[in-house]
Amino acid sequence: MTPVRPLRTDRLRLAPTTPEDLPFLVELDSDPEVLRHILGRGRTAQEARDYWAPQLPGPMWVGHVDDEPVGWWALWPREGGVTELGYRLARRWWRQGLAVEGARAVLDDGFADPGLDVVRAETMVVNAGSRGVMRRLGMREVRVEVRRWDEPLPGAEQGEVVSELTRQDSRSTLS
Ligand SMILES: CC(C)(COP(=O)(O)OP(=O)(O)OC[C@H]1O[C@@H](n2cnc3c(N)ncnc32)[C@H](O)[C@@H]1OP(=O)(O)O)[C@@H](O)C(=O)NCCC(=O)NCCS
Repeated sequence: MTPVRPLRTDRLRLAPTTPEDLPFLVELDSDPEVLRHILGRGRTAQEARDYWAPQLPGPMWVGHVDDEPVGWWALWPREGGVTELGYRLARRWWRQGLAVEGARAVLDDGFADPGLDVVRAETMVVNAGSRGVMRRLGMREVRVEVRRWDEPLPGAEQGEVVSELTRQDSRSTLS
């Protein structure tokens, strides 16, 4: 994986995450709607700090419109040569095409690394927004996995959809 570097899109300035982003990540995770399909409730400030602090800096970007942070995008290296895409936006920025706009930029940057062949993303089947982002990115839904959870979220019985974007497919869908 190449080091995370600053990126720009038409509307977004994507800055590599630093520990200074912690207050924004804590605020984002305090919204129960934002974590609806992830935790089923908002995180307390302490929970969010405990979760995020060890991950900063990391292979993530915080996107800004003008100087306001709107959300984050991540490309996490996983086992087996796979990289996982993630994203999370503050609610007031939803449905404006920003998740796709930021994801295109980070995927483009990720595939600049010749060692990256496949990007994977996972979401609950019932997470229509996240599936919409994956569809717009040209990702293929490769399987649905119904997993066992100690405390399943509503819709967990429908499973998690796993989507992938190959380097080859990215050539036609990202440019
Ligand atoms: C999921 C999320 C990132 C989408 O961000 P966004 O900026 O609103 O997405 P976009 O505007 O780029 O939309 C991408 C596509 O998804 C569709 N979409 C977005 N939200 C949707 C929703 N709630 N229901 C149905 N479709 C939705 C859009 O209409 C668009 O498709 P279209 O161009 O064909 O109309 C945002 O809702 C979010 O941060 N949710 C909470 C965190 C989360 O669930 N992250 C993913 C975890 S796997």
